[in-house]
Amino acid sequence: MPIAKSKKSAAKASPKTDSSAQQDSALLEFFTDEIKDIYWAEKHLTKALPKMKKAAASKALADALGEHLEVTITHVARLEQVFELLGKKAQAKKCDAMEGISKEGEGIIEDTEKGTATRDVGIILASQKVEHYEIATYGGLAQLAKTLGLSKISELLTKTLNEEKEADKTLTAIAENDINYDAATEEA
Ligand SMILES: [Fe+2]
Ligand SMILES: [Fe+2]
Repeated sequence: MPIAKSKKSAAKASPKTDSSAQQDSALLEFFTDEIKDIYWAEKHLTKALPKMKKAAASKALADALGEHLEVTITHVARLEQVFELLGKKAQAKKCDAMEGISKEGEGIIEDTEKGTATRDVGIILASQKVEHYEIATYGGLAQLAKTLGLSKISELLTKTLNEEKEADKTLTAIAENDINYDAATEEA
């Protein structure tokens, strides 16, 4: 097969494929795919958070969700910066996990009564599942970026990671300070 052979050697001779880039290419490809996944998730959250906020009875909870929506918009922009640093076009790839978690949140809203602390407890629980998913993802990806020698990208992902942790703490505080107690005294 002389034609195939010559194609192969032409590919080998292609410019700018230093040995380290070649070594990293499978991992870098995996990393980029995971960035596409969390990009989809963050974009999805910019649509899901307003619904959660609207469904919340407690002002503290609604405010926290509204604030996290603003933060989430910056997470989307930060991921666009990551794509730019990777020299790739920003592209979203459907994240089944985030779709599932947010569907669960919608189910909680449907199954609970409007204006109740019980619904707020459910919204907090669903929101914390979202935050924990993001914390796991950003924690892993920031570390992976470091391994790949992508320090600027790792820095950006760590910034987002810390904001997700902050959001999680805020939700815990809101639950502990009033909502859980109110819900416990609510009639069925
Ligand atoms: Fe986020
Ligand atoms: Fe978040």
